[in-house]
Amino acid sequence: MEVKTSLLDNMIGVGDMVLLEPLSEDSFLENLKNRFEHNEIYTYIGSVVISMNPYRSLPIFTPEKVEEYRNRNFYELSPHIYALADEAYRSLRDQDKDQCILITGESGAGKTEASKLVMSYVAAVCGKGQEVNKVKEQLLQSNPVLEAFGNAKTVRNDNSSRFGKYMDIEFDFKGDPLGGVISNYLLEKSRVVKQPRGERNFHVFYQLLSGASDESLKKLKLHRDFSKYNYLSLDSAAVNGLDDAANFRTVRNAMQIVGFMEDEVQSVMELVAAVLKLGNIEFKPDSRSNGSDESRIKDKNDLKEMCELLGIEQSVLERAFSYRTVEAKLEKVSTTLNVAQAYYARDALAKNLYSRLFSWLVTRINESIKAQGKTRHKVMGVLDIYGFEIFEDNSFEQFIINYCNEKLQQIFIELTLREEQEEYIREGIEWTNIEYFNNAVICDLIENNQNGILAMLDEECLRPGTVTDETFLDKLNTICAEHLHFESRLSKNSKFLTDHSLPHSCFRIQHYAGKVLYRAEGFVDKNNDLLYRDLSQAMYKANHKLIKQLFPEGNPAKVNLKRPLTAGFQFKASVGTLMRNLQTKNPNYIRCIKPNDKKASHIFTDSLVRHQLRYLGLMENVRVRRAGYAFRQPYEPCLERYKMLCKRTWPHWLGPAREGVEVLMSDLPVPAEEFSFGRSKIFIRNPRTLFFLEERRRQCLQDLATLIQKIYRGWKCRGHFLLLKKSQIVVSAWYRRYAQQKKYQKIKSATTVVQSYTRGWQARKLLRELKYQKRCVEAVTTISAFWHGTQIRREYRKFFRANAGKKIYDFTIQRIMQKYFLGLKSTLPSMSPIDKNWPARPYLFLGGVHSELRRIFHLWRCKKYRSQFTEEKKAVYEEKLEASELFKDKKALYPSSVSQPFKGDYLEINKNPKYQKLSIAMEDKVLLADVVNKINRANGKGTARLFLLTKNSVVLADQKTGQVKASVPLPDLTSVSVSTQSDGFFALKLKEGSASAVKGDFLLSSEHLIEIITKIHRMGTTAADREQLDIDISDEFLVQFKHDKVCVKFIQGVPKNGNSVSCKRKNNRLLEVSVPSTA
Ligand SMILES: Nc1ncnc2c1ncn2[C@@H]1O[C@H](COP(=O)(O)OP(=O)(O)OP(=O)(O)O)[C@@H](O)[C@H]1O
Ligand SMILES: [Mg+2]
Repeated sequence: MEVKTSLLDNMIGVGDMVLLEPLSEDSFLENLKNRFEHNEIYTYIGSVVISMNPYRSLPIFTPEKVEEYRNRNFYELSPHIYALADEAYRSLRDQDKDQCILITGESGAGKTEASKLVMSYVAAVCGKGQEVNKVKEQLLQSNPVLEAFGNAKTVRNDNSSRFGKYMDIEFDFKGDPLGGVISNYLLEKSRVVKQPRGERNFHVFYQLLSGASDESLKKLKLHRDFSKYNYLSLDSAAVNGLDDAANFRTVRNAMQIVGFMEDEVQSVMELVAAVLKLGNIEFKPDSRSNGSDESRIKDKNDLKEMCELLGIEQSVLERAFSYRTVEAKLEKVSTTLNVAQAYYARDALAKNLYSRLFSWLVTRINESIKAQGKTRHKVMGVLDIYGFEIFEDNSFEQFIINYCNEKLQQIFIELTLREEQEEYIREGIEWTNIEYFNNAVICDLIENNQNGILAMLDEECLRPGTVTDETFLDKLNTICAEHLHFESRLSKNSKFLTDHSLPHSCFRIQHYAGKVLYRAEGFVDKNNDLLYRDLSQAMYKANHKLIKQLFPEGNPAKVNLKRPLTAGFQFKASVGTLMRNLQTKNPNYIRCIKPNDKKASHIFTDSLVRHQLRYLGLMENVRVRRAGYAFRQPYEPCLERYKMLCKRTWPHWLGPAREGVEVLMSDLPVPAEEFSFGRSKIFIRNPRTLFFLEERRRQCLQDLATLIQKIYRGWKCRGHFLLLKKSQIVVSAWYRRYAQQKKYQKIKSATTVVQSYTRGWQARKLLRELKYQKRCVEAVTTISAFWHGTQIRREYRKFFRANAGKKIYDFTIQRIMQKYFLGLKSTLPSMSPIDKNWPARPYLFLGGVHSELRRIFHLWRCKKYRSQFTEEKKAVYEEKLEASELFKDKKALYPSSVSQPFKGDYLEINKNPKYQKLSIAMEDKVLLADVVNKINRANGKGTARLFLLTKNSVVLADQKTGQVKASVPLPDLTSVSVSTQSDGFFALKLKEGSASAVKGDFLLSSEHLIEIITKIHRMGTTAADREQLDIDISDEFLVQFKHDKVCVKFIQGVPKNGNSVSCKRKNNRLLEVSVPSTA
């Protein structure tokens, strides 16, 4: 939504002087000062903008500001030059009204800056496009060029415009710039030859010398040193904050943009150089023989260089500086020039050269920037003209300038009043006559064709005879003495008044802006603006295109004997044209004010500003504006702004705005004469009424702010509350859902429980019923069976009685057997083959079955047991079995051997290093190795021997050395004899006649007798080629010792000396072995 603002918002002081209450010069000044101190440099008087020079850059000319003011109504925002520019541009574009912007104020007040601001604003807001941008750029860049040639540093302003400028910018129907036309007014050309103390010549001279390259300077025959040129003032050649060299580059660049050709720029620079050279030409007196004074050029070097620059023959120019030719109708008279005249001629040439160059520049720029096409254009004129000047010493220039300002004031009053009047008529408001000072009378004093000062000056200039400034003053005294705004010593004297502040050679004019004392000296001369014809002809002869162009009157073919138009006349004519031009346009005023004389920021010199506001007629301006009604505003914005003051118009008025305002005003305690209703605007007579409205509005706004705050807070709280409510509903919904789910699950599980109970109960009930029914059926069946049985038995008893006993018996036996087998199954003993347990026999008649079953079970478990054996274990057990077969119940030693495992190799000869040799000597695998006692045949004592058994032989070896003592191949063994006792004696009997039998049989004793014999026996059974070894078990047997057979007899005896078994040789034939009894 667009926010409607107003100038009245946040005002510092009053933004529009029309609203000043009370209105006085002091309050006016105070308001300006107050605003200036708050950086508000712009203030309105109605639609006129007062601009104070801030002398520093303020951040109010930014592109953002341009956007802010763009397309906004004039009074909508705080006062600004952009508001005026926007208003002018929009009414030009939208209402097809030509505009002019009149910028006035004294030197240094900021006119040129203001004109640039206006132009840059218009450039920023108008259309865009390649062509348009080029035009804009050219228009804007014409400024630096003109400023370089037309501006100079003065005591009042470092960049003072020394010419008046009016620029028409032309736009097409869309508001896009097409081009422009610049008019220049009265360049202060005297500055070229002489500058007051503390001032400079035109900028371009300094810029050229500082900024041009060495090469170009050489070309122009110039030196960089300012002091080498008489026309350049030296005391202020360097200006603070002014970079001449950089500016020179800017100017060159600007000239290029505007469209100057390179040779044109060069020509211009040559002319500038020529002016500087001209200043250096000096003359010395030279007396001629005829007694007349003559002058001679002191040093011709500069003249020569200048002539070279401009392509003039040196002698021609030299002559022109020495002679003056006066041509009458038929005659030509040449007179010599004295030194003073020569200097006059030189300076006149310099001034003319420069001022014509300047005019040429303006024409050339116009050529570039002029609008193409012949369509009707809308025009915006910007007038930046020198302000009113009151110096200590005022001359012709000030007179002319002040005349121009007088004219501008007149047009200002006229247009302001006219506009005011037109507005009243337009709005249908009764027009009340306004008292104001009309300066037409002063204008008349100056410009009247018969007896105006300018007319009289021209008359004097044209008059034959001696004409001096005194004769001119005399003329004034006679003609203008009675004029109310003219004063001179003479005219005063005639009224018997003495005024010592008024010298004899001066006259005073009471301008609208104050009294100004003019010195008559130089008026005639300056008005004549004479350039000797010889000089213009010399210039025309130059071989330089531009120079030739500048001095057309020098063309001998077009000699014009008429006197040239006077400066005053020309100026009056151009001012007249300007005024007519301005009158056709809608004026917009910018009145520039200079806050101090020091070019300093933040300083507000009351007296200086007071003086300016007086001569600018600003108070009058306000009075005119306020004469009828101080304030006016269209109905729409008025209603928009104040509608809150009345209940009927707040918040919306649906009818026409005018009626709304009428209702509004009638509702307010404001006297009816305080306001009037125009056609489109309301007119408020006094500012205080407006302030009353503003105050009420302010209060109302506060109340409204509170109301808005209240509503906003309410809205916010309600929003918050609704949010809470909504979330509460969500939370409760979720909670309810959750609770319901829980409850449902509870009910469901309870239902399931109840259901299951019910079902269970029902099922049980049903089951009971079914059971009952079944029982009933069974019972019935049983009963019926029994009944039938009974019946049948009763019926058939006679037939079955004989078989019944057998059947019952079979049945009983069957039942018993069944019970027996089932019982046996549950009481079976363990799977150990040595477990002797067996359940007791339940019935005597089952004795046979019972023991058979025991046997079968035992066999079965033995088989089971055996099936777990490995091959080795099996072999061991086979050996054990064999041992049992051989010795069980035959030898008392046997039972003790049952529990001993048959280890075989007790000596571990393979591992024992002692028997390593022996082990190697053994060809076959050693099946048994043990230490045995070899019984000595002589005494029956034992000697320890190693006993080794292999598959094929029995070996006896020495226990200590391992040396084989005897090796008996197994086939050589015929039998083995052992006792029945618990001893370990055994005799190995050898085959008679065999190689082994040479030494006789062996009688040995071993702890592992059973094992040894069993193993030897096994060798016999397993080998197919051998006979089985006989095992002879008896307590007496014969042993073949070498040649004898000895009987070994075993007797039971008491053991002696701890020896369990003792052996004794009883005689040659008997060896007695006493074995302790086993009992
Ligand atoms: N709006 C502004 N912001 C900042 N500085 C300004 C502004 N207006 C003027 N000035 C300063 O004041 C100086 C003088 O301004 P300007 O040249 O516009 O005066 P003028 O009225 O054209 O004077 P003259 O009549 O001598 O040409 C400028 O050079 C600039 O330093
Ligand atoms: Mg200026």
